[in-house]
Amino acid sequence: MFLHIVFLLSLLSSTSHATVQDFCVADLKGADTPSGYPCKPPANVTSDDFVYTGLAEAANVTNIINAAVTPAFVAQFPGLNGLDLSAARLDLGPGGVIPLHTHPGANELLIVLQGHILAGFISSGNIVYQKVLKKGELMVFPQGLLHFQIAVAISPLLW
Ligand SMILES: *[C@@H]1O[C@H](CO)[C@@H](O)[C@H](O)[C@H]1NC(C)=O
Ligand SMILES: *[C@@H]1O[C@H](CO)[C@@H](O)[C@H](O)[C@H]1NC(C)=O
Repeated sequence: MFLHIVFLLSLLSSTSHATVQDFCVADLKGADTPSGYPCKPPANVTSDDFVYTGLAEAANVTNIINAAVTPAFVAQFPGLNGLDLSAARLDLGPGGVIPLHTHPGANELLIVLQGHILAGFISSGNIVYQKVLKKGELMVFPQGLLHFQIAVAISPLLW
């Protein structure tokens, strides 16, 4: 039996900009710059620009890490432009691993939606902070620190 372990992570940068306009939905035809994409004309903005449905389906995890990352970044979700916020869905099959990586410009908040994972990060003093998390639990990964997520079998019955 194949069990997907699914969770969502969101990335929040530490900066927030005061804006003089309500929003700046990305005009993806423009160039992506350090301050984001240019804004779509307000008359072209619709409700759909603020909604993203692409994380609803499980991704294919048949690959070497038995896991997949599905992004909801500004390129997929134009309403995020300039908000210093993004999200992603991680699907981990049995034995699935998201290997050690960092996000230099973003803190990360992880929410487990299904199954169990071992998640952790390594401080600059080489201390590992890790925990097995279950559905509904959250963990935060401070900006710039190496972190990982691994699918774990809590009970043979789960598999
Ligand atoms: C805005 O909408 C107009 C009219 O539909 C269209 O011609 C124009 O290309 C659109 N601009 C952008 C940036 O999407
Ligand atoms: C998942 O990916 C594998 C490897 O690319 C492929 O063989 C398989 O057909 C895919 N499964 C589905 C349901 O698309």
